[in-house]
Amino acid sequence: MTGRLRGKTAFITGAASGIGRASALLFAAEGARVVACDINAGGEDVAQAIRKAGGDAEFVHADVTDEQAVARAFAVATGRYGPPDVLHNCAGGSTDDDAAVDELSADTLDHVLRVDLRSVVLCSRAAIPLMTGHGGGSIINMSSFVAFRGVFNIHAYISAKGALVSLTRAMAGRYARDRIRVNAIAPGIALSDRAAARMASGNIAPTLTFRFEDYPFATGSPEDIANVALFLASDESRMISAQTIVADGGLSSY
Ligand SMILES: NC(=O)c1ccc[n+]([C@@H]2O[C@H](COP(=O)([O-])OP(=O)(O)OC[C@H]3O[C@@H](n4cnc5c(N)ncnc54)[C@H](O)[C@@H]3O)[C@@H](O)[C@H]2O)c1
Repeated sequence: MTGRLRGKTAFITGAASGIGRASALLFAAEGARVVACDINAGGEDVAQAIRKAGGDAEFVHADVTDEQAVARAFAVATGRYGPPDVLHNCAGGSTDDDAAVDELSADTLDHVLRVDLRSVVLCSRAAIPLMTGHGGGSIINMSSFVAFRGVFNIHAYISAKGALVSLTRAMAGRYARDRIRVNAIAPGIALSDRAAARMASGNIAPTLTFRFEDYPFATGSPEDIANVALFLASDESRMISAQTIVADGGLSSY
């Protein structure tokens, strides 16, 4: 590893598993101090693995949909490492009870919007004043290729992930003056345990009608997406803001 994040502190939500976990491990290996935030106590294992490898990490337990919990998490993180340079809003995911609007329950809609959209607003709201007072930073949101492809019957999730594309652009415009870059990643299929299980579920499997052999780069690992996040977190991407990087091997394009 080459120290691409040396001297930086990264606050990563959803760090107990999947893409968030892969980002936490990679960012730490590249020299970042990592705040591994998750509702799942498995975040402690990630922090321990980083420390065991000689890195610096702290697990912070929080439900990122809860205002008070988010405020506490950032207070703990700042007390430990100072203001964050990077916020990777990774907590989220689609659910089995999501559906097309004519079958979508209001409770499911509310739940998905809380986890996939409200959490991003709350964590960004907590991080931005800290970054501003510290000379700037990089915020990385997680959209999805499904926001760009109208065949999926998971309309609550698509609403949240589409909103994140617009919110990313709007936040980038508003906070550029504070030297904060804001970008998003729209992955294709990154085979976290959750994503692998979701591929077989009743509200996804029937819509996977394309031929996977036409999209050899559409499926990958959480580490593949963590590499994109690393680029956006590092100063190598210092001219890039307001963008959604679609890492889906063309799935949403042809
Ligand atoms: N894996 C993919 O193929 C894929 C594709 C497109 C977008 N995404 C997005 O990438 C992100 C990560 O996906 P993943 O596949 O790694 O998921 P994952 O389920 O492996 O990890 C998500 C993590 O978020 C945590 N989390 C969930 N709700 C939380 C809450 N309220 N507070 C704190 N933590 C919470 C979970 O405990 C879990 O550790 C999600 O936003 C997802 O929508 C993933």
